[in-house]
Amino acid sequence: MHKISLVIPEKIGIINRNIYGHFAEHIGGVIYDGIWVGEESRVPNIRGFRKDLVEMLRKINPPVIRWPGGCFAETYNWRDGIGAREERPTTVNFWYFCDGKLENNEVGTHEFIDFCRLVGAAPYIAANATTLTPLEIRNWVEYCNYPRGSTALTRLREKNGSPEPFNVVFWGIGNENWGHGGNMTPEDYCFEFRRYASIVKYLDKERVKLIACGPASNDLNWTRRFFDKLKDVTHPSFGNIIDGYSIHYYCGTAGNALEFSQDQWYELLDKAAYMERIICEQRALMDSYDPQRQIGIVVDEWGCWHPKGSGPSRGENLFEQQNTMRDALVAAITLNIFNNHCDKVVMANVAQLVNCLHSLFLASGDKFVATPNYHVFDMYKGHQEGEAVRVLVDTDTITYKTGGNKEKQLARISCSASIKDNRLTLTLANCHYSEEAEVRIDLYGARFEETATKMTLNAADPHMYNSFEQPGNISPVTREIKLSNSEPVIVLPPASIVALTVELSG
Ligand code: AHR
Repeated sequence: MHKISLVIPEKIGIINRNIYGHFAEHIGGVIYDGIWVGEESRVPNIRGFRKDLVEMLRKINPPVIRWPGGCFAETYNWRDGIGAREERPTTVNFWYFCDGKLENNEVGTHEFIDFCRLVGAAPYIAANATTLTPLEIRNWVEYCNYPRGSTALTRLREKNGSPEPFNVVFWGIGNENWGHGGNMTPEDYCFEFRRYASIVKYLDKERVKLIACGPASNDLNWTRRFFDKLKDVTHPSFGNIIDGYSIHYYCGTAGNALEFSQDQWYELLDKAAYMERIICEQRALMDSYDPQRQIGIVVDEWGCWHPKGSGPSRGENLFEQQNTMRDALVAAITLNIFNNHCDKVVMANVAQLVNCLHSLFLASGDKFVATPNYHVFDMYKGHQEGEAVRVLVDTDTITYKTGGNKEKQLARISCSASIKDNRLTLTLANCHYSEEAEVRIDLYGARFEETATKMTLNAADPHMYNSFEQPGNISPVTREIKLSNSEPVIVLPPASIVALTVELSG
């Protein structure tokens, strides 16, 4: 039997709800046909936004959405996306070299803000730090955040239909600047970051939070060199100019999206578990530069990345993929890790919302379906703003062989727990492909009320997924169960995710 000890008096911190954030880039079918169908569309919509998506997204309390990229951001000029839609220019999308699609700019800043308001999320704008000047980014902040009628740019905003400010708090300075965002060294980027930050931050100092580009995966060299350079030259009067430090990590496929062996099942889940090491090593290094922990980790791109073509568009939408139970397990493991590090991880954005990599939805014309990843976000939403408590997991490991024929081990159970208003949310993933797991949950410092709610997500075959034709293949089953304080045992089916919620007393 596996054992989980919940040490209730040992609080890790409040789980920032922004850990449950999303990412919507102008790429493939994410914005156009995914989120935006247009006001004249026969697809049911709210002010041009796909109604089904808006309604389902609202249900999982989306806290924040990152936009407009990704790499797209690095050649995006926000001025192309404001004003009368029919007069907006058609421009060359960053991704044109991959799919030959042009950008018609129908969705720009006003539409993005409208979408955020519709679903109840905060906007997070990734600003272009490669091809626009600091002045133009500063102007974008002024356009979004300065009071009605106060400047020429705010009068332009009003003329474009939005007298009241957008109050955008989160601003990213660049995207993957070690790659397509300028192919910079950490020192080059640090130089650019300071130039942008010193202008942008002080325009709206009390509100604006700046997110700097951090490493690809666990590149400690990038982090060390960036912070070394920052420390060397920042004038003391600036204080701390970074609020968040971004990390991008994708679980590169094992097999492909729909076809995988048992070893490949474990290999992918183990790649998800690697997030733990990334966070531990990056945060330890960051602590040596920022002992007060003023800078949070923002994992603003994460998810699985499979070879193209498994999604319903069959490769027409760049990076669109199907998502099986295996991808749902990746989401569950990853979110457990974020919860367990909520004293450092302040935001995360799954890539990407619809018709892309680790998507919550797939859509095409009037067809729409929620993937198993959506259900994970639904099952985990009780963690938002909960207080995470220490979880000690006593489980065994599963041995598997990687593609390179190396033997590796993966812990069988992944887990995190939080408390909000005396209600415990405990989320567990059973990583074993074919064996159920009996788990004993020992509670230290509180008692369970008798009745708990158990939501289970699993499938007859872990290769299953939801499609337009069979949208309900994978959806959670909810049951009330009795939880005894003397024998608190629950059973996790093979390859499953379970969310348990229960009131606590004394
Ligand atoms: O999410 C797709 C792409 O992956 C993003 O544009 C980029 O930032 C990353 O490399």
